[in-house]
Amino acid sequence: MMATPSRCAPSSPVVRDEREQPMTAVGSKCKVCKGPAVIDLPRHNAKFCAEHLQQLCRRQMAKAIDDFDMLSPDDRILVAVSGGKDSLAVWDMLIEAGYHADGLYIGLGIGDYSNDSGGYVQRFADERGLQLQTIDLRDEYGYDVPTAARATKRVPCSACGLSKRRLFDQAALDGGYDVLVTGHNLDDEAAVLFGNTLRWDIEYLARQLPVLPAGNGFPKKVKPLVRLTEREMAAWCLVRGIDYVVEECPIAAGNRHLSYKESLNAVEANSPGAKASFYLGFLERMAPLLAGMTAAATGDLNDCSRCGSPTTGDVCAFCRLVEKSSAHEPVPVEMLLTRGGKVRR
Ligand code: AMP
Ligand code: FES
Ligand code: ZN
Ligand code: ZN
Repeated sequence: MMATPSRCAPSSPVVRDEREQPMTAVGSKCKVCKGPAVIDLPRHNAKFCAEHLQQLCRRQMAKAIDDFDMLSPDDRILVAVSGGKDSLAVWDMLIEAGYHADGLYIGLGIGDYSNDSGGYVQRFADERGLQLQTIDLRDEYGYDVPTAARATKRVPCSACGLSKRRLFDQAALDGGYDVLVTGHNLDDEAAVLFGNTLRWDIEYLARQLPVLPAGNGFPKKVKPLVRLTEREMAAWCLVRGIDYVVEECPIAAGNRHLSYKESLNAVEANSPGAKASFYLGFLERMAPLLAGMTAAATGDLNDCSRCGSPTTGDVCAFCRLVEKSSAHEPVPVEMLLTRGGKVRR
């Protein structure tokens, strides 16, 4: 449901989330202005009206940008936009803050889900007169994510993540952008950190930073939403009237990342703020101890013998993926799903 933008108006509606649940009790008051609240944020022990929710989001993003030296006012920014709430919100917030930011959408070929997502991104850009670049995986590289999943016999998210990362990097470098922005939020980062910690994956832990500097053939990459949650971003979109794709990716269902999110949500429900302290505490106290433990830092990178990109082996994972997947007969997304909507293995 879309809420109309409201600025501390006495009739300010309570914002409802994607499951149509109100984000706060009717009649609750904003902590700052005592006007009608639209959202309850237990981790801040406060409720906020539409205007003060936006103020909180702007401040949290500005603090992340500042603390981690993410962006300069004159940077040419490329925002990777999926059509979901986080990436549309970060694009909106950056433009509102006065940054020069263009968009990038990757068509992953996941049936109607991809078509719908691309439509949301295109409308957002058109309505605001923003520059949007679209790259279609099948048109450019001869495969799509469902086909890659079948060809590699791995979970779809693995080929999807690898393809996205490479296309983001390539588009940012080719377009001469100073920095690539993604919409990863606090929930995403805490879930990835949880997974990396469960496996004690030191290489991944050492790389799990909100800023990755340019170098070694990679563009600078930043995540300005790391201090903001999924729920806060949904509320941002609702009060700003941003239309986004609500459905989750049909072939991501059941991935481990989602179960880590659920586990952390259970912890958060009992101890509000636990998620933020887990992730932000990692950045403050653990990440400095791991600095220098990535393959890039230890000098273990070679040039891929096919595309020249940095890799730890001879041929990079992306070139191997393209070779395998483009040779495979196209697999429509429906073939990956069982009748119950589960992903076939
Ligand atoms: P995900 O990997 O789906 O959790 O998405 C993480 C971030 O990657 C999003 O916030 C976007 O910034 C970006 N992203 C995901 N999918 C796409 C896509 N199809 N095109 C462009 N950017 C995307
Ligand atoms: Fe990547 Fe669904 S968006 S597998
Ligand atoms: Zn207020
Ligand atoms: Zn390669």
